[in-house]
Amino acid sequence: MDSQELTTSSKIADLEKRNEAAMAGGGSDRVAKHKQGGRLTARERLDILLDPGSFVEMDRFVTHRCNNFGMDKMKSPGDGVITGYGRVNGKLVYVYSQDFTVVGGSMSRTQANKICKIMDLAIKNGAPVIGLNDSGGARIQEGIESLSGYADIFVRNTMASGVVPQITGIMGPCAGGAVYSPSITDFIFMVKDSSYMFVTGPDVIKTVTHEDVTKEALGGALTHSQKSGVAHFACEDDKHTLLLIRELLGFLPSNNLDDPPTLPTQDRPDRICESLNSVIPDSPKKPYDMLSIITEVVDEHYFLEVHKNFAPNIIIGFARLNGRSVGIVANQPQVLAGCLNIEASRKAARFVRFCDAFNIPIISFVDVPGFLPGTDQEWNGLITHGAKLLYAYAEATVPKITLITRKAYGGAYIVMGSKLLRSDVNLAYPTAEIAVMGAEGAVNIVFREALAKAKDPVAEKARLIKEYEQMFANPYVSAELGLTDEVIEPALTRRRLIDAMEMLKNKRDINPAKKHGNIPL
Ligand code: HXC
Repeated sequence: MDSQELTTSSKIADLEKRNEAAMAGGGSDRVAKHKQGGRLTARERLDILLDPGSFVEMDRFVTHRCNNFGMDKMKSPGDGVITGYGRVNGKLVYVYSQDFTVVGGSMSRTQANKICKIMDLAIKNGAPVIGLNDSGGARIQEGIESLSGYADIFVRNTMASGVVPQITGIMGPCAGGAVYSPSITDFIFMVKDSSYMFVTGPDVIKTVTHEDVTKEALGGALTHSQKSGVAHFACEDDKHTLLLIRELLGFLPSNNLDDPPTLPTQDRPDRICESLNSVIPDSPKKPYDMLSIITEVVDEHYFLEVHKNFAPNIIIGFARLNGRSVGIVANQPQVLAGCLNIEASRKAARFVRFCDAFNIPIISFVDVPGFLPGTDQEWNGLITHGAKLLYAYAEATVPKITLITRKAYGGAYIVMGSKLLRSDVNLAYPTAEIAVMGAEGAVNIVFREALAKAKDPVAEKARLIKEYEQMFANPYVSAELGLTDEVIEPALTRRRLIDAMEMLKNKRDINPAKKHGNIPL
């Protein structure tokens, strides 16, 4: 080394060279191959995800320490994952983005160390973690060392759960045990046609069960956002995914001790929603779109629907009321008449728990005739899954406001944020029917013998149904018992929900001290 090489400027030039090498990822050929089909590189993804110029990289020069199978000659600065911190809408977030062009983004021990480092910082500093996954899984050459890295990440995912929001973008392959880190996180975004998730792939399935299935059909974005519910969002491409993650973060606090962000709004809190006076059909058998009520009521009519294509008989998502984030849970009478089934219960329960963990008030819009009947539902554990939703509502201590638009029958009435589950403000439209069950079912049971003996059973049944409806299919029995706080004209919905939110702004409620509950999983 001659003296010239030791000058400051030559050292800076050397740093530049090292930085350039890190920026090159797996080299131009691999990058070009990766970008075929419209995929972005790991760094381009971070550029879109984070506020411009805010990204600070950590561990750029980390390399692996494996010498098996010639790996000592395959070192790349950063080792296939870019980690660090930056800002989204001005707020601190921690990020990692796997680089498929470096050994297929595979998880080495050092890659895991890098991810764990930013997760530890995120937990200590109370800021969300966003992981962008694009990886061939455990680095095969490293064997069990790689597996230990996954385990360390799983433990951190679990420790961070309910402390800081965790979001995963599945931007490419995600297979085997690698799927379990994303699935512990709060929200999974998948890219249509270029990402997939499965525990065992098509080849193994073919060998074991003799089924033929493509990667896309087995674990693509549509499969997981519609059939399994593993993914919350199926996005059009990389850019759409990253922008949607930014949007979601706009509703969330940084951690469990923080309040959700407030966004100034031009939408008046006392805006009258005239159209809602005619949204509920005269016939209780006719469906209507609950989304039309939600979007009419919330700030600027903007609702970010989560899990849109999974269990569409229940709607969940985020919106704002007078600038403040709320989590919305709503039955959708257009699908399965709004009945609760296994999928809907699971979907809503996890969402209610997320909102409760992160101080986001829960607004429930209720039109529920009951739990879905059927052997399929019963044999697959509707009892256990339905209990999840009940448990989630009952344990939640955030402000809970419930509006019954039409049907609220039986156990499903209790579950859907009723006063009986510690809800704070319960409103009902004059069209509400809050009862133990629907009129026809009730008459069939209570008057079975009388109807059998009746001269004209059809006319007698019609008379009894009418009588039952007059007596019970209204909100006033519940209002007399104090289980409904106010029966409101639908046009006043926005105003009343915001009044309730303001009134509950400083709500503090606690549950008995315990290690943790035992939710029926
Ligand atoms: C080491 C890997 C790798 C891996 C890919 N590569 N996956 N190297 N370990 N897990 C390398 C390839 O050798 C190749 O290197 C480069 O990355 C790109 O991979 P290709 O196969 O050319 O890409 P593509 O055709 O797009 O196929 C992508 C793929 C395939 C479907 C993901 O690479 C694949 O099947 N990989 C192995 C998947 C796997 O079985 N993983 C281990 C699962 S076990 P070159 O030098 O040729 O460019 C597991 C357990 C986790 O993950 C348990 C956690 C608890």
